Amino acid sequence: MQDRSGVMEKLASLGKRKGFIFRSSEIYGGLGSTWDYGPLGVELKRTVTERWWTDVVAKREDVVGMDAAILMNPKVWEASGHVDSFQDPLVECGQCRRRFRQDHVEGDVCPECGGPLSEPRMFNLMFKTFIGPLEDEGSVAYLRPETAQGIFVNFRNVQEASRQKIPFGIAQIGKAFRNEITVGNFTFRSREFEQMELEWFCHPDEAGQWFEYWLQARFDWYISLGVAREHLRLRPHEPDELAHYAKVCQDIEYEFPFGWSELEGIADRGTYDLDQHLELSGKDIRYLDPNTHERYVPVVIESSGGIDRTVLTLLADAYDEDEVEGEERMLLRFAPHIAPIKAAVFPLVKREEMPETARRIVEELRARAWNVLYDEGGSIGRRYRRMDEVGTPFCITVDGQTAEDQTVTVRDRDTLVQERVSIDSLAGHLSERLNP
Ligand code: GAP
Repeated sequence: MQDRSGVMEKLASLGKRKGFIFRSSEIYGGLGSTWDYGPLGVELKRTVTERWWTDVVAKREDVVGMDAAILMNPKVWEASGHVDSFQDPLVECGQCRRRFRQDHVEGDVCPECGGPLSEPRMFNLMFKTFIGPLEDEGSVAYLRPETAQGIFVNFRNVQEASRQKIPFGIAQIGKAFRNEITVGNFTFRSREFEQMELEWFCHPDEAGQWFEYWLQARFDWYISLGVAREHLRLRPHEPDELAHYAKVCQDIEYEFPFGWSELEGIADRGTYDLDQHLELSGKDIRYLDPNTHERYVPVVIESSGGIDRTVLTLLADAYDEDEVEGEERMLLRFAPHIAPIKAAVFPLVKREEMPETARRIVEELRARAWNVLYDEGGSIGRRYRRMDEVGTPFCITVDGQTAEDQTVTVRDRDTLVQERVSIDSLAGHLSERLNP
C-alpha cells in the first residue's frame, strides 16, 4: 500500500472495533490522551515487553533488571534537573484559548482559529501530587516523568547486590507520566505511557564505543520485531534540542503516516545524573574498580524506548489494504511471532465431527501457550477476513477430507496459499513459522 495518509484514523477505528486500544474512561468522554489496551492490544504490548526483557536482560550476563516505585523522594527530581529544566514553552491563543507547545506551531498565530498567540511561558511537564493528608509545599511528590532516575538512585545498591563489574547495565520497564501540552496522533504522545530503559554504566574512556554499540543493537531490535528497515532511521540531535542531561543523543525514528518521529533515544548522559545525586544526597555512590582500586563516577549510555510507541509502530507498519477475489481487504501484516492471535481454527460446517475436531486442535495448540481462536460463525470467507483484520497469520480449516485422512488446510494470510498438513504435524509446522 503506497498512500499512507488516513492510516492513523483507520487504525484508531480498527483499534477500538477489534479490541486493540480504547480511549481511557471512554463512557465519560475520555481523558486527555490516556489509553486502555483491549484483549488484542495487551497481547501486543506484552509481546513487546517480553521480547525487550528477553533480549536486553535475560540473554545477557552483563545486564540486570530492577523495578522502582513510581513515587520517589522529590529531591530526586531536584537533583536530576527535572524541577528546573523539564519544561516546554507554552503559548495560548487570545481568541479560542487553546494552548500549544511553541515549537509545535509555525509563526505566531493560532493553528486552529488564526487568533493571536501569547508570549511563551515555561510549563513544567511533571504531574504533581501530595503525600499524606496535607496538601502543602512540604508534601509535594511527582509522578515520575522517566523511569531512569529509579535506576540512578539505586546504582550502588544494584551494583553491590549483583556484584556486576563495569561495564554493565541496569534495565527497567515501567510507567512514566508527562503533562504534555500538545498530544495527539493516537497514542503517539500520551500523558501516561510505558518506558523500557537501559542505563549502561561504563568507563569514561569507553563511552564512545558503547554509544555506537547500543545504537546499532537497538536499531536492529526493531527490525527483529518485523518493522520494515526502510521505515526506520537514525537521527542525531542538534545541539539545541538535546535534553538538559545529554551530551550526545540519536533518535531511532519510524516513518509514521504523519512523518518521521521518535521511537527511542540513545543518549550519552555523561556522569551528569550520578554526579548530581552524589552532590545532593551527600552519599558516595561512586564505583570502586576492584582491580585498579580506582573510585570513579561511570558514564551512562542510555537507551530509552516507549512501549506504547512501539505498539503503535507495529500497528502502523502492519496496516495494509489489498484485493482478494475482487473484494477489498483490510489487513494487519504482523510478523507471525508478534501477532496477537497466532492461528484460528474453523470447522468448515457446523455438523459431522468437524466442530469437535476443530476444538481438539485448538486445545492442543493452546497447550503450547499460543493464542489460538475457534470460530464457526459465518462463511469461511468472512472468517478469513475477520482474522486478516487482526493480523492472524494462519487459519486452519477442518473440512470433509479431515475425517478421511486426518489432514487440515493451513491458509497463509499474506500469500493466501493453502497447504494440507496432517493434524499430527500441525504444531511442528506452525512452530517453525512462529519462532523465526
Ligand atoms: N530517560 C530518557 C527519556 O525519558 P525521552 O526521549 O524523553 O527520554 C524516551 O523519552 C522515550 O519514551 C521516547 O523515545 C518515547 O518512545 C517515549 N515517550 C516519551 N514521551 C512520551 C509520550 N508523551 N507518549 C508516549 N511515549 C513517550
